[in-house]
Amino acid sequence: MVMSGPGAALVAESRPIPTPGPNEALVRVRATSLNYHDLVNLLGLIDGPWPRVPMSDAAGEIVALGADVRGWSVGDRVISAFHPAWLDGRPNSAGKRDMPGDLSDGWLQQHRLTSASALVAAPAHLSNLEAATLPCAGTTAWSALEEGDIGAGDTVVVQGTGGVSLLALQLAKARGATVIATSSSDDKLKVAESLGADHLINYRTTPEWQREVRALTDRRGADLVVDVGGANTLGRSVGAVRMDGTVAIVGILGGFGAAEIPVSVAMLQNVRLIGITVGSVQAHRALSAAVSAAGFHPHISHELGWDDMAEAMRVMQANEHVGKIAVIVP
Ligand SMILES: NC(=O)c1ccc[n+]([C@@H]2O[C@H](COP(=O)([O-])OP(=O)(O)OC[C@H]3O[C@@H](n4cnc5c(N)ncnc54)[C@H](OP(=O)(O)O)[C@@H]3O)[C@@H](O)[C@H]2O)c1
Repeated sequence: MVMSGPGAALVAESRPIPTPGPNEALVRVRATSLNYHDLVNLLGLIDGPWPRVPMSDAAGEIVALGADVRGWSVGDRVISAFHPAWLDGRPNSAGKRDMPGDLSDGWLQQHRLTSASALVAAPAHLSNLEAATLPCAGTTAWSALEEGDIGAGDTVVVQGTGGVSLLALQLAKARGATVIATSSSDDKLKVAESLGADHLINYRTTPEWQREVRALTDRRGADLVVDVGGANTLGRSVGAVRMDGTVAIVGILGGFGAAEIPVSVAMLQNVRLIGITVGSVQAHRALSAAVSAAGFHPHISHELGWDDMAEAMRVMQANEHVGKIAVIVP
């Protein structure tokens, strides 16, 4: 499926199936999943080469390998990497130079070549649709937990019930942490509870939710807040975190505007504010291994066909989803 230009409708296009070169694998794509990032891209708001195939995430199986590839076999179930050139270590601009779907053709296609060094093994217990929820949302959630050094006994706040937040919830529970989930909806909070959330706060009816977080943590504050709101949540996230705790700056759901933060609180409480951009291939592999060990299934509220991308976008814009919207590639 191809976008001819910013915001153009997706059009099916036939292309020859490519042959893998050195260090390349050909993946038969079975599923992708919609991230907020993909929505912004499909709306035409991300610069890049045109025309292009959208979607950053995929799961499928290897159907051909370049002659020199070691460690992978035809038939292996694999997941794509959000930053295929960022193999390991701290963020760097060379590693972030490629983002499939934005800066090169993405994964809304039946076959795609990829660098074999960027492949991640799919957890065996996950379906292709479930595995396709991990690259962007899962790796981002993992990176936030790593930056917060979250372990057993820690407290994590997740905001809303979107893809990143519910995966952060599930991963935090797998580490033995206590999770405080917020949402605009009591019904969605029930889903968060079913996935293990220990405390639930409706941020519509409790707009000063950071005070509730303090009350729930004996005034101490949370060890980590995974902030997806940005402009309209970051100040409260600083108010919700403990001394020397971490606020992971992940999202911009509150708009592209500037956030106001209580600077004196951030300073006096030694709050650590850290920006996240998904993560490296190695982080993604560690995430995949952790999901395998924990054995949980990412929450998918909608499964749609790849000719239903307009509906997938509508569902996300209408905020009808909980967790992930998964897309079947035929
Ligand atoms: N930096 C990175 O590496 C990275 C990676 C992935 C995503 N992101 C960003 O993270 C954000 C979430 O992405 P996603 O794919 O998880 O989105 P998503 O699945 O569409 O999740 C959106 C959910 O967040 C909640 N929400 C909406 N506006 C909110 C606000 N102002 N404050 C708090 N919660 C709000 C809503 O949940 P309720 O209805 O339950 O309230 C909504 O359903 C986006 O801004 C995305 O661009 C960043």
